[in-house]
Amino acid sequence: MNCKPCWIVVQTVKRHVNTQMELPDRNTDYRDQSYWDDRYSKEKAFDWFSDYEAFKHLLKDDIKTADKILILGCGNSLMSEHMYQDGFLNITNTDYSPVVIENMRNKCQQKYPGMSWEVMDILNMTYEPETFDVVLEKGTLDALMVHEKDPWNISEETEKTIENVLTQVRTVLKADGKFISVTFAQPHFRKPHYARTVFDWSVEQKHFGQNFHYYYYVMQKGSKLSVEDITKENERTAKKLQNMTEEDKTIEYLEYEDNENFLNGIEL
Ligand SMILES: C[S@@+](CC[C@H](N)C(=O)[O-])C[C@H]1O[C@@H](n2cnc3c(N)ncnc32)[C@H](O)[C@@H]1O
Repeated sequence: MNCKPCWIVVQTVKRHVNTQMELPDRNTDYRDQSYWDDRYSKEKAFDWFSDYEAFKHLLKDDIKTADKILILGCGNSLMSEHMYQDGFLNITNTDYSPVVIENMRNKCQQKYPGMSWEVMDILNMTYEPETFDVVLEKGTLDALMVHEKDPWNISEETEKTIENVLTQVRTVLKADGKFISVTFAQPHFRKPHYARTVFDWSVEQKHFGQNFHYYYYVMQKGSKLSVEDITKENERTAKKLQNMTEEDKTIEYLEYEDNENFLNGIEL
């Protein structure tokens, strides 16, 4: 149970990966840029979780063909090529692996005029505020969490990392822009990251896939969170505060015990 996300990543890869591609030694390798550079120097095309066909009906409801679209962590997925063929011509593809960006640019630049490929780290995006109508990611935020052992208790460091990325996503989105996230993460694990009043967006979730469900989240900037999402956020905050207070109490108690021992020592 504790390792469910890691397990799912591995299972998903095993089901989809081409036979020449070796799995990494450890799940944490998915966090290393060197792992991706090395992988992309050998692998030509691969779609994580699912290809565009399986969820294009959802995307077509949410994106207009004239929209300016930013893809985060594009890898060598065929998604943007298929989107282009479906009329979404204004796509900026980004990844922090220069190897995959170079490969994709060589493969696609002539074939798909208007589509661009740029090296960009999602932890440090340099786009102007309010540039894009849509920001889209598939499996990229998952790659930032693969080292976590217990999905119910994500480390504070990872929480901050995700918050940093989402803050940047929100900034580069236009006032009525959408962030779309495609992932294997179920709502009880992923919504606490997305459904937060600080981002000033609503969260809608759907799923697709037959034997295995994938999740499709749409964050609409400028829309309010539902009452249910706000209530859940308040409950999470209250629980955190309670845990913090209990930790404080434990520290005070330990300090008191120390003093007692110290006084006992003097009496002796
Ligand atoms: C699981 S793969 C998903 C690839 C592609 N989106 C797909 O659906 O097949 C994660 C991708 O995120 C990229 N990535 C990981 N961390 C990143 C970061 N900090 N900034 C930009 N890209 C990152 C990796 O290079 C890799 O291409």
